[in-house]
Amino acid sequence: MTARIAPSILAADFARLADAAALVERAGADLLHVDVMDGHFVPNITVGPPVVAALHRATRLPLDVHLMIEEPDRYLEAFVSAGASMVTVHVEVLPHLHRTLSRIRELGARAGAALNPSTPLESIREVAGLLDHLLIMSVNPGFGGQSFIPRSIARIAEARALLDAAGSAAPIEVDGGVDLSNAGPLVEAGTSILVAGAFIYGAPDPAGAIASLRRAAAGGTR
Ligand code: DX5
Ligand code: ZN
Repeated sequence: MTARIAPSILAADFARLADAAALVERAGADLLHVDVMDGHFVPNITVGPPVVAALHRATRLPLDVHLMIEEPDRYLEAFVSAGASMVTVHVEVLPHLHRTLSRIRELGARAGAALNPSTPLESIREVAGLLDHLLIMSVNPGFGGQSFIPRSIARIAEARALLDAAGSAAPIEVDGGVDLSNAGPLVEAGTSILVAGAFIYGAPDPAGAIASLRRAAAGGTR
């Protein structure tokens, strides 16, 4: 088993985002994860559509845009126009999740739902057929560099079973605290996309960190 690697630019130098994107592109990353935070749904504030557009010009990597914002419907078109390939919205802020996922697809992007660690998996059962991916948070969203919540591994297996039972082959993405200690078990449990911020951009050799994460994901030890 293996997984796609999505470096999170939240842990990169925001004054040098083009370099940060180029570095992981050269190192064989599969996606670039962009964390959008509004200071309401989460305490932190990060970037918006103009920065996504600038990244889109700077890299060929598909942009995996994680919206940690209230009222994401107001901004879907702006993020897709800016170049988002994948748009992930949090179920905790969406009374009309079915409509929002449908809209992302209509706009031409891949639609994903994200669940905080305390949100029941059940909340996505009815929209399983509309999911192009499911993001399971393995930390409480808002900041990079937090500790992985160990319960997330069992939660991935439960989410995989729920999607399978619903007839959905949507890949599961895990986000938060991913490193060599949990990548193998996460993939074993059914994770298809590993997001990693601090582990990659905080490393002295980010390209080496991606390679080691890939080996761990494939079941290797180092
Ligand atoms: C957290 C973000 C994550 C974050 C992961 O709210 O959604 O994408 O960048 O960073 P690490 O890997 O440092 O936990
Ligand atoms: Zn994220």
